[in-house]
Amino acid sequence: MKVENLTKTYGGRRVLSIDNFNFEKGVIYAVLGANGSGKSTLAKLLCSLERADEMSKITDIGKVLYMPQKSYCFQMSVMKNILLGGRDEKRAKMLIERLGLTRLSASAAASLSGGESARMALARTLMSKCDMLILDEPTAAMDISSTSVSEEIIKEYARENGCCVLLITHSVKQALRVADEVIFLYEGEIAEWGEAKSVLNDPKDGRTRRFLEFYGA
Ligand SMILES: Nc1ncnc2c1ncn2[C@@H]1O[C@H](COP(=O)(O)OP(=O)(O)OP(=O)(O)O)[C@@H](O)[C@H]1O
Ligand SMILES: [Mg+2]
Repeated sequence: MKVENLTKTYGGRRVLSIDNFNFEKGVIYAVLGANGSGKSTLAKLLCSLERADEMSKITDIGKVLYMPQKSYCFQMSVMKNILLGGRDEKRAKMLIERLGLTRLSASAAASLSGGESARMALARTLMSKCDMLILDEPTAAMDISSTSVSEEIIKEYARENGCCVLLITHSVKQALRVADEVIFLYEGEIAEWGEAKSVLNDPKDGRTRRFLEFYGA
């Protein structure tokens, strides 16, 4: 999955500018960076929710599944919301159980709490197979135990499907637990990209280093 010259401009302001990169199957990439650094914009361009600027080229990306940063729900039960992602009821039940939604599966999705909605949205996203899975801060609203279960499910999904995963997160610890590689965005550019442990424990780029200093504080 190749991307060349990926740029996005909003109202004359360039918010993303990436020369070229290659996403490989079977690899989990964590995307880190400050608020406004372009993480969600990158996600939306890759799943064609937004159009990139004229010269950009995205090739051979295959089927993309995307969980947006703001989880949405349809006006129906939790179970029905999840089945919108795929018809396999056995899989839906398995995800519902593991994500602790069993008691809520017949409830109206609109009544869920923030973390519960995120769990429902993750289950709905993981109902079918894909070539590229893009998760935009999937666990930001979740408690510690739901976060841990979600991380396991995401890793399992990647292993079973052999797809590539883009996990956008503000948690360095999560990136270390889940990702093979880290992409660090700074003001719309890739400041650093490499093996997760190496980038996060020994950043080469000054911008990455300054960002990571806050975690040690
Ligand atoms: N539709 C839009 N119109 C104008 N500007 C936009 C639009 N969408 C995003 N932006 C701007 O682009 C920049 C990047 O936004 P983006 O949502 O990609 O950031 P992010 O890295 O996901 O941040 P966060 O950590 O807060 O989620 C921001 O400065 C934002 O204000
Ligand atoms: Mg975002």
